[in-house]
Amino acid sequence: MTVLPWQSGTTPLMLAPMQGLTNRALRSYFIEHVRPDVIFTEFMRVNTAPAGAGLTAVDLRDVATWQEGVPLVVQLVGHERESLVLASRVAQEAGAAHINLNMGCPYGRMGGGLTGGGMLRYPDNLAEIIPAMRDAVDGSFSVKIRTGYDDPDQILSLLPLFETSGVDFLVLHPRTVVQKYDGAADHRVTARVIRETRLPVIANGDIRSAADGGRVLGETGAAGLMLGRGAIADPLLFLRLRGVVNPEPGREERRAELNRYLREILIRYGRLFCGDTQVLNKVKEIIAYLDDPELAKPLKEMRRAKTVRAFEAALHRLC
Ligand SMILES: Cc1cc2nc3c(=O)[nH]c(=O)nc-3n(C[C@H](O)[C@H](O)[C@H](O)COP(=O)(O)O)c2cc1C
Repeated sequence: MTVLPWQSGTTPLMLAPMQGLTNRALRSYFIEHVRPDVIFTEFMRVNTAPAGAGLTAVDLRDVATWQEGVPLVVQLVGHERESLVLASRVAQEAGAAHINLNMGCPYGRMGGGLTGGGMLRYPDNLAEIIPAMRDAVDGSFSVKIRTGYDDPDQILSLLPLFETSGVDFLVLHPRTVVQKYDGAADHRVTARVIRETRLPVIANGDIRSAADGGRVLGETGAAGLMLGRGAIADPLLFLRLRGVVNPEPGREERRAELNRYLREILIRYGRLFCGDTQVLNKVKEIIAYLDDPELAKPLKEMRRAKTVRAFEAALHRLC
């Protein structure tokens, strides 16, 4: 039996894979301050054969069983069986233990819209791809999926394939692919999927507070939670959910948290990225997810900052 990336009997809180955001430096900030139970790489693009796996040196640098003691799941996005199998092997040779297949991304520009959530347009292909990837992966093999391409019940028809193929767990974001990020994540579908499968299901989508997380766990019976945009806006969400810090921070607490978070990210990004412009653009990608109405003014200044120095000055005005 495969070893899951979390300890059995616990309810893991996972940091979501977010392309452009959850790079090694940001993950490292989360590990040091809130220690998610499981973290994911951003998706790694898999080329179609005969070009090979197509994983780059940068991708492979990010591949490991653990990052700073926290299990790291390597996520692949592609659509062709041979190349996904090859990429799974290459990733494992480079040190990965846990592999996840992205079946949810709604922006399928590569592979003619066949990858990510686009895989759900051709479910017949999955009967070949899923068992082949399962066989190629020694550690856990999981799938991150939406409820369907345009039909939120499609997921139910795929559960038997996932079970018989030996998929270890599912991460479910209960929106359809065509829905992109419109409307709300419908965790009634999560609850239904959980009732109909014996696989552990990690619930993901629109969890922005400890109350949201508690409600989703209570109403669905999910095996764990995955936090994306809510955690980018408030890294302490992990500790709020664990009851370690205030579930709803006051204004001053929030200011102090943001100050520490963004200052440290500037330092970490300074080491990872090249030059002020790149650092500034990358840190602004985080700011895009901060929407505290009370901090609207300094956040606007940070978004408009043209230099790291101007950004730091706006950050200074947070306190
Ligand atoms: C900017 C951005 C990048 C994302 N990149 C990925 C990715 O690389 N792989 C993936 O499976 N999902 C990706 N997602 C989806 C998230 O992992 C998550 O499923 C989604 O945002 C819903 O969860 P949330 O409401 O907690 O953010 C991305 C989402 C956003 C907003």
